[in-house]
Amino acid sequence: MCDAIYIHIPFCINKCQYCDFLSFKSTPYKRREYVEYLKKEIKLYPEFEYDTVYFGGGTPSLLDPFEVKEILELLQIREDSEVTLEVNPKSVDLEKLRAFRNAGINRLSIGVQSFDPYYLKLIGRLHTGIEAEEIYRDARKAGFENVSLDLMFSLPGQSIEDVRKDLVKIAKLRPEHISIYSLIWEEGTPLYEKLLKGDLEETDNEIEAEMYELIIDFLKSKGYIHYEVSNFSLPGKEARHNTKYWENKEYLGAGLGASGYIGNQRYKNAVNFEDYYGKIDNNEKPYEEVEVLKEKEKEEYRYILGLRLLEKGVEADKEYIDKCVELEKKGYLMKKSGRYILTHKGLMIANDVFEEFIS
Ligand SMILES: C[S@@+](CC[C@H](N)C(=O)[O-])C[C@H]1O[C@@H](n2cnc3c(N)ncnc32)[C@H](O)[C@@H]1O
Ligand code: SF4
Repeated sequence: MCDAIYIHIPFCINKCQYCDFLSFKSTPYKRREYVEYLKKEIKLYPEFEYDTVYFGGGTPSLLDPFEVKEILELLQIREDSEVTLEVNPKSVDLEKLRAFRNAGINRLSIGVQSFDPYYLKLIGRLHTGIEAEEIYRDARKAGFENVSLDLMFSLPGQSIEDVRKDLVKIAKLRPEHISIYSLIWEEGTPLYEKLLKGDLEETDNEIEAEMYELIIDFLKSKGYIHYEVSNFSLPGKEARHNTKYWENKEYLGAGLGASGYIGNQRYKNAVNFEDYYGKIDNNEKPYEEVEVLKEKEKEEYRYILGLRLLEKGVEADKEYIDKCVELEKKGYLMKKSGRYILTHKGLMIANDVFEEFIS
């Protein structure tokens, strides 16, 4: 049963130095045109009843709130659903946040990355830490009771002390949810070019591991639950939509380059506007790739996604029981309520552990 929808908004005011997400600079006209196609695409699917809706990007908060409302009005949404919008602090003010709330958004995920003006400038963010804090407070004034903040760590030149300062700031703000990712040096981004030229350096692996341990210890000491490899929440405030991905549940993906998982199929939409619009004009779903999953592949996804959930983990079945026992003996997995979860040692090399489940 599909009760989750991800809607991709591929527009940003400006491209951040580290980012290779599918997003472009735009005009209000281009955004309007895109929303019209999005609505047509959504109508190509059966009328599922949604329990979580997630506007991601890019920068969905660049849309006009009435455009978000138009999209939401097309969907059948259950009463106590989680309806999230990703926000870049530079794209909103109090009035716009109020309008998003009135349009039906009840959860925000705000991209902060750091509170330190030096690192924000270095990675090409257009806002300061103070502006990000102001937008967070405006979100509260606008009535949002469920707010997530994104942070990044292991930024070029960042010290453990710098990370601690960001943690102190974020804990004071006390958002319901925190996502915190170490910088990925994506090929082709301006930051990566600077790395190749030798203008910037990667953080040493050991220091990065120390930063991660600090983040875990610090946020846990402030009452946050480390429920997923890169995500923390106050009790009961886990991201409901993203948790469905990790539980390998079905979701519809709409919009340029969006991925989805329905029935036995994982699909990815066209990544250029011409193909995406062309297929929708022909009343076709704008797929670029479709992968029909065999039972074995479904199982692999179940393990590599499920083990990311640190409290819940996965139930082991016949085929992988030996693998789980082997990883348990090595100290990377342990049993909790009949399921397997990562140990701290496993968490520190999580990607290597996940690879053990890929044939
Ligand atoms: C779509 S953005 C969030 C909303 C909005 N676009 C913004 O940046 O404010 C998703 C998040 O992915 C993370 N992210 C993007 N590129 C990354 C990279 N190369 N390494 C680590 N995290 C990255 C950032 O934390 C970012 O907030
Ligand atoms: S990090 Fe966010 S604002 Fe920056 S380019 Fe990527 S999607 Fe756009």
